[in-house]
Amino acid sequence: MREGTETLVRRELYSAPAYWIRSVDLSFDLDPIKTLVISRMQVEPNSAFAGHHEALRLDGEDITVTRVQVNGQSISFRLENGQLVLENLPSEPFQLEIRNTCSPEKNTRLNGLYTSGGGFFTQCEAQGFRRITFFLDRPDVMATFKVTLRANKQSYPVLLSNGNKVESGDLDHGRHYAVWVDPHPKPCYLFALVAANLVCREQRVVSRTGKDHLLQVYVRSGDLDKTEHAMQSLVAALIWDEARFGLSLDLERFMIVAVSDFNMGAMENKGLNIFNTKFVLANPATATDVDFGNVEAVVGHEYFHNWTGNRVTCRDWFQLSLKEGLTVYRDQEFTQDMAGSPSARAVKRIEDVRQLRQIQFAEDAGPMAHPVRPDSYQAIDNFYTSTVYEKGAEVVRMMATLVGRAGFARGMTLYFERFDGQAVTCDDFAQAISDANPDSALAPRLEAFKRWYAQSGTPRVQASGEYDADNRRYTLTLSQSCPATPGQSEKQPFVIPVALGLLDREGRALPMQFVGGPLASPTERLLVLEEASQSFTFINLDSAPVPSLLRGFSAPVILQAQASQDDLLTLLRHDSDAFNRWEAGQQLGLERLLAAVQADQNGEEPTLDAAFIDAMQALLRDESLDAAFRELLLTLPSESYVAERLVERGVAVDPQTIHRVRDAFRAQLAQALHADWAAVWDKHAQTGGYSPDAISSGRRALANLALANLVLDAARSGDTVWPGRAYQRCKDATNMTDRLGALSALVQAHAELAEPALARFHAQFQGEALVIDKWFTLQATAPESNGRVFARVKALAQHPDFSVKNPNRARSLLMALTQNPAAFHRADAAGYVFWAEKVIEIDAINRQLAARLARGLDRWRTLAEPQRGAAQEALQRVAAKPDLSADVREIVSRALAA
Ligand code: BES
Ligand code: ZN
Repeated sequence: MREGTETLVRRELYSAPAYWIRSVDLSFDLDPIKTLVISRMQVEPNSAFAGHHEALRLDGEDITVTRVQVNGQSISFRLENGQLVLENLPSEPFQLEIRNTCSPEKNTRLNGLYTSGGGFFTQCEAQGFRRITFFLDRPDVMATFKVTLRANKQSYPVLLSNGNKVESGDLDHGRHYAVWVDPHPKPCYLFALVAANLVCREQRVVSRTGKDHLLQVYVRSGDLDKTEHAMQSLVAALIWDEARFGLSLDLERFMIVAVSDFNMGAMENKGLNIFNTKFVLANPATATDVDFGNVEAVVGHEYFHNWTGNRVTCRDWFQLSLKEGLTVYRDQEFTQDMAGSPSARAVKRIEDVRQLRQIQFAEDAGPMAHPVRPDSYQAIDNFYTSTVYEKGAEVVRMMATLVGRAGFARGMTLYFERFDGQAVTCDDFAQAISDANPDSALAPRLEAFKRWYAQSGTPRVQASGEYDADNRRYTLTLSQSCPATPGQSEKQPFVIPVALGLLDREGRALPMQFVGGPLASPTERLLVLEEASQSFTFINLDSAPVPSLLRGFSAPVILQAQASQDDLLTLLRHDSDAFNRWEAGQQLGLERLLAAVQADQNGEEPTLDAAFIDAMQALLRDESLDAAFRELLLTLPSESYVAERLVERGVAVDPQTIHRVRDAFRAQLAQALHADWAAVWDKHAQTGGYSPDAISSGRRALANLALANLVLDAARSGDTVWPGRAYQRCKDATNMTDRLGALSALVQAHAELAEPALARFHAQFQGEALVIDKWFTLQATAPESNGRVFARVKALAQHPDFSVKNPNRARSLLMALTQNPAAFHRADAAGYVFWAEKVIEIDAINRQLAARLARGLDRWRTLAEPQRGAAQEALQRVAAKPDLSADVREIVSRALAA
């Protein structure tokens, strides 16, 4: 079906709706082939439009209308661009009843009402509700919902919707019904229903307000033993939001439902969160530490939306970061607080920043670059991006930094006082945070600060310091610039909070005093860079200090400081800021990777120097450092991060060279530190009974890195002991983290034992879909070596367990391939041919999923030949398909645009 929706939606053109829908009474006769929906709405003309009779245009998609009545009388209607248009309506409030049908089984897009594993589920954000019934499908129209579900009792014993169950009972012909009422007005994107054969884990909690709540986690009957962690995370999130922000649960019942076919991670429907099984189900036997962490974060995230998203929602979809950026900030803070120690918090921060820099920075440098609050879109589903989410969270974090922790809490309180129950904008949020903190560093520069919402691109910050020995002064000059991005050639300066410390050569923190500043001389200061260039002078310094800039990654910028090797080594050894210690190590590794990639052109072998190896050895041996932190320190910057840094220096990217160089460095670290890896393994291999806490998961992460290095080095030395140990661990491990770590060590080293270990693993976990996903991903993300990884991916695409219809499975193989640069970006273009085939194949089934996969070639312009031309051809091949969805069309046409 050719889409008529390839038009641009613009933020500037927002206007309030001509009508409000105040309440809706929905009734569903659920049937997989043909479900009947009756919607009775209380409609009210918007008084702002009084005087003239506006037509009421209701959104609808892939549904069939059978009857329309106004105040009980059938009326005529017409369909125009998919909208149901009603004219000559009463000027007073009226009742509108619409009957329509839809086909859940045919709904492979997993948007609207669909079937999965024999049950019915919904996904309405952003614009799925219009695929269920005709409605004003926009977030600023908020209604109370009453929902009646009718379905066969045996096949669908559980009937759920938002709010509270007020009635249920049996009907004729083996059917039954349930009635749900949600007293909170909500936009339709927060509507949900579930009808399925599920079981649930329950828990009652009493909130601070003294109210009683019922918490439930619904899963298929075999999965009940994987729900404990999700329930614990939910309870923890509830307690945390009360303690940190004074926000309590406003519902008697809060339900989480797991579904295995789901486009996204999870969805915050009011009182009825629907989750991808991947982010609910976890037990030690099937889930890794990373999975446990993700479950906690996602359960927290969706729960936090109940205030930041549901109680206060978005006026329009351009304001998406209002809820997503803020809620990601909240889930990041939650997970940090749950991690406990300062070191564990830093580990979490490093992981978040690594993700931001790898994905969001690349997005902001490519054809999909857009502001945190975008100006236009073709398909809104394409704008659930790392920019809106992760950069949006950094924008909130910077505000919190500028007003302080208590000030931010005050700002949140004011935000809810002003806007509870409303649909608002990013401006409204920033204004509330600022107004609650009139004396803060934010208030006087709020307008300039808000450029973070409007300007795309990653700012560069240059830093240079000068020490004046005669006057014992140090002057730090910071300047900023931001490259042009699509549609934005000129940028105005950003407001950039720069957390700074100064160290002496021995690594001691120095007191920092300004000329004429207050006498207090803390060892960390927050500078605010808001001009193109600014200087800051510190006094009473006996020697040239080593600056520790942008501590904790205080702003989402690319720092270009001319730190010497000595400075970086000082920071790596001594900085009190754990983030900057790690950053100094990454910088040291990065410089070597970049130099080796360049030197490769002259046929030079990549070789790590002794200074670097010694520094890494000292860290690996340093038992005062948490295992998790050591694991991060000893991991080199990723291939895609190296690629982006090369692009910045004007070098065309050859993924094969980067891969070869990084692999060589890994092998050298494995060899040079062999004895240390073995010692670390001995000390950390046995982790005892499983607990997902930060300390034990850190120990497992370090043990797995050690094992990977030992098995890798065995590939060089011909040793068979370490591969044998890894194989044994694959068999004997008592938790998935250890088991997958051992399997991964074998697969990554292309050890002979990898094959039998993979076969054994597959046989052992045949019935566990989420584990089989890991099995696919592991093979697709192995380090490429003579094309065998890509060949394996193509073979796996034919595996009986593979299917593009299940998003998790499709992602486990195909997205994984696009994230494995050397396997994907082949000189013979086979990776791109395969990619184009799959994008087109999936687009016909699930456009949202296809559009995600389509982004795999966003950065084609940065590639060296022959990849660059081949990638362009593949994009053109996709773009040439006439019946492409608007979603995929938007991605490929942006990528190809000059
Ligand atoms: N509201 C989103 C889910 C969503 C996004 C549904 C786009 C439909 C279209 C939800 O709150 C969310 O942000 N989920 C994330 C996970 C989260 C932890 C960042 C997701 O699904 O990836
Ligand atoms: Zn969200």
